[in-house]
Amino acid sequence: MKFFVDTADIAEITELAETGLLDGVTTNPSLVAKTGKDFVTTVKEICRIVKGPVSAEVTATDHAGMLAEGRKLAGIATNVAVKVPLTMDGLKTCKALSDDGIMVNVTLCFSPAQAILAAKAGAAFVSPFVGRLDDIGQDGMGLIADIVQIYNNYSDFQTEVLVASIRHPMHVVEAGKLGADVCTVPPAVLKALVKHPLTDKGLDAFLADWKKTGQSILGGT
Ligand code: G3P
Repeated sequence: MKFFVDTADIAEITELAETGLLDGVTTNPSLVAKTGKDFVTTVKEICRIVKGPVSAEVTATDHAGMLAEGRKLAGIATNVAVKVPLTMDGLKTCKALSDDGIMVNVTLCFSPAQAILAAKAGAAFVSPFVGRLDDIGQDGMGLIADIVQIYNNYSDFQTEVLVASIRHPMHVVEAGKLGADVCTVPPAVLKALVKHPLTDKGLDAFLADWKKTGQSILGGT
């Protein structure tokens, strides 16, 4: 499974990139707005820090506008994945950009039917929003199960399932059980994945016992 971080915050991305666990980054207009920084400059900086796919979203809603914005974003760096919404114009733009060899991430996916169309349009990634479905009492991980099953039925579907709108570690665990390709995770959730109280308790006990020996590994004999 690949891990992308879901933020446009350069400091958070830099910190997580240093762990070696980061395979990419996803942004969206709300995450960019939160930084208060210039969009293109921020995407350029993120693409310098992380070598994997960096998703940058168009804000036009018509095909011509999305195509122009998509080409500009793709021109920033070779690892940019242009993010388009799952609308008819978004799918038309996905097809056109994918045909030009540009990586496209089709976002705001909420149904298996939508995900089939994203694969047909040649998307590199489809982003189903599990947290937003859970928020309205629908089964977010059920959608992932359906999409993975459908995509596995068709060898010509090359689209990777990028689980988005993740809210807690169990979304990542369930995504792993289902065989999703990528999880894009808010920084806090990525950090929470590491934590377990018994790991902390066990390490404390080891260190307390070791301290009693008065030895030091690097101290040498
Ligand atoms: O980046 C897309 C998605 O991950 C947004 O998630 O938390 O706004 O539902 P959220």
